[in-house]
Amino acid sequence: MQPIHLEATGQQILKIEDLSVRRSGKTVIKDINLNINRGEFVGIVGPNGSGKSTLLLAIVGALKQHSGSIRIYGSPPLSGQLLGRIGWVSQAASYFPKHVRISVRELVSLGTLSAKTAFFLTDQDRVTKAIQMVGLEDVQDVDVSRLSGGQRQRAVIARALVSESEFILLDEPLVGIDRDARNSLLKLLDNLCHEKGKTILMVSHDLTAIRQTAHRMIFLEETIRFDGPTDRFPDLDVLAELRGIDPACSSIEIDSMEG
Ligand SMILES: Nc1ncnc2c1ncn2[C@@H]1O[C@H](COP(=O)(O)OP(=O)(O)OP(=O)(O)O)[C@@H](O)[C@H]1O
Ligand SMILES: [Mg+2]
Repeated sequence: MQPIHLEATGQQILKIEDLSVRRSGKTVIKDINLNINRGEFVGIVGPNGSGKSTLLLAIVGALKQHSGSIRIYGSPPLSGQLLGRIGWVSQAASYFPKHVRISVRELVSLGTLSAKTAFFLTDQDRVTKAIQMVGLEDVQDVDVSRLSGGQRQRAVIARALVSESEFILLDEPLVGIDRDARNSLLKLLDNLCHEKGKTILMVSHDLTAIRQTAHRMIFLEETIRFDGPTDRFPDLDVLAELRGIDPACSSIEIDSMEG
């Protein structure tokens, strides 16, 4: 994977300064400083409970920051300027409730609600395009509950794409899908990034998979302990040092991040 050239892409999409977030009175993430430019594919890894989902939830505005600032296209989270510009695929996306009867096309159409034109028309052309982009044309009228895990994840991604969001955040999209589906999903995300100019911020436990695809990797454990090009992502011993752990017992814990 080619490291992205920040100068070439220019536009800054996300700027986070000195962010900390508390949950139930406890500081979960702190001293976060992060800039993401247009066209980057950034992977976030870290042990369970290290604050990855918390960071994404703060970016989309679902959690309020305790201190610091978040700017997306220069605006704070939830600002009206951002309507339809951010696509969000949550950690729970693959566990879509089985009892909800909804076709792929209907699910994807829900994405138009966050687009600026939502109050005037539902743009079926955009829905069709989003379904094509994730390769689900053949099952567009099938009930979502009948899809495989990988297909369901694609349907949720199409819902995020339909508003023509430029900045897509995904929390563990690879959970519960087999290797082939995983590879094709990564390829889809890679294409969205390279061919459609989307900017992607993706959390995954699957270190091997994310290293194959992301240009840039972040290791988060309460704060950012590594942020750099994927080919410079540290090996396990160095990671253990970053985490302040005795390397002799660290490999088991870090291994458990995979899969
Ligand atoms: N609703 C909540 N109220 C209070 N604390 C919470 C809440 N949700 C999560 N936490 C705590 O915040 C910390 C970070 O959780 P978060 O879900 O962001 O971690 P994560 O890195 O996404 O973990 P995982 O890899 O398991 O998804 C954990 O210590 C967790 O116990
Ligand atoms: Mg999480």
